[in-house]
Amino acid sequence: MADEQEHEAASRADGPPLVEAWELTKVFRDFWRRPQVRAVNGLTFTVSRGEIFGLLGPNGSGKSTTLKMVLGLLHPTRGRLRVLGASPREVRTKARIGYLPEESYLYPYLTPVETLDFFGRLFDLTARERRRRIEELLEMIGLAHARRRPVGEFSKGMARRVGLAQALLNDPDLVILDEPTSGLDPIGCRQMKDLILTLARRGKTVLLSSHLLADVEDICDRVAILYNGRLRASGAIETLLEERDRCSLTLPAVEEARLRPVIEAARAAAGAEPEITRPRMGLERFFLRVVEEARRVEEPAAGAEAGRAVADYLASPAEAQREDGTTPEGVADRAEVDRRLERLVGGGRPEDRDGS
Ligand SMILES: Nc1ncnc2c1ncn2[C@@H]1O[C@H](COP(=O)(O)OP(=O)(O)O)[C@@H](O)[C@H]1O
Ligand SMILES: [Mg+2]
Repeated sequence: MADEQEHEAASRADGPPLVEAWELTKVFRDFWRRPQVRAVNGLTFTVSRGEIFGLLGPNGSGKSTTLKMVLGLLHPTRGRLRVLGASPREVRTKARIGYLPEESYLYPYLTPVETLDFFGRLFDLTARERRRRIEELLEMIGLAHARRRPVGEFSKGMARRVGLAQALLNDPDLVILDEPTSGLDPIGCRQMKDLILTLARRGKTVLLSSHLLADVEDICDRVAILYNGRLRASGAIETLLEERDRCSLTLPAVEEARLRPVIEAARAAAGAEPEITRPRMGLERFFLRVVEEARRVEEPAAGAEAGRAVADYLASPAEAQREDGTTPEGVADRAEVDRRLERLVGGGRPEDRDGS
């Protein structure tokens, strides 16, 4: 509970929003530049410093397109967007963002250390700083034991966590995660969610997308629900889900006879028949408890370990309040990193060829 309170405190941090979107619209055009798909339609939202904000919606509702606009990878057809107080296309802005794409393309023959080192070089980190950050990140994502295995052999969950480490190499202030838990098993999901919560406690602002309701409910402070590119509902999870016409009173389990006077009193006070139920723990907690029990008696399964606290180098809340827009030492801007990647991989990203 203390963690939750801490997190709430972080999410109340004031200051200007890190992301402000007004009437954001994206129309994809076909080869002849005829409007084809209105992927995002008049979307207005803000993401405050230190909060975990979730874009929730079914497949094709415009989540990834929205994230790519915030990243400056796609240009909005209409509307306005400010990210970290500037245009998302600005080089200084890009240097302060970390991004986990929907699909991370990792070179299968490289180990996690080599993969992260490759990206560390793109960010112009010194060899010493790369070593330090990579060690801390591997500990954090629970893959220190698999450091010498090629990532091609990794499970989806392990690969996803290498993707997360990659997104954090430049010590970003704003972390954008596209479907961070997709394809993960319940344990991988829980670990990813815990990592995201830890990042938020460290003062990072997280903007994520998901079509998995339970994940969003568990970790997000506020959500925006998209359908067909339009905003259908938004607000703090607590407020959206609270049933304001009912309240509940939870007691330790006692014999029903002893409860009778309480029920009588409740009936008299509420003027209605009270409903008696037993609280449920939720399937995720139950499942994790069963697995934990099994683990205690068996060999640990291969794959990612639980992972430890957040990497030390990731800015503390105080450092994350950086207002002057300076980039962390030795970090090349993301636009330059993108250019270097393009030269290495060849060609642009498919989403850049939408004719915007
Ligand atoms: N590069 C593109 N060119 C044309 N249409 C696209 C492109 N990217 C996405 N779309 C369309 O935009 C809509 C929203 O897609 P997307 O943002 O990926 O949704 P989500 O991430 O919510 O699943 C979909 O109809 C999709 O087919
Ligand atoms: Mg998507």
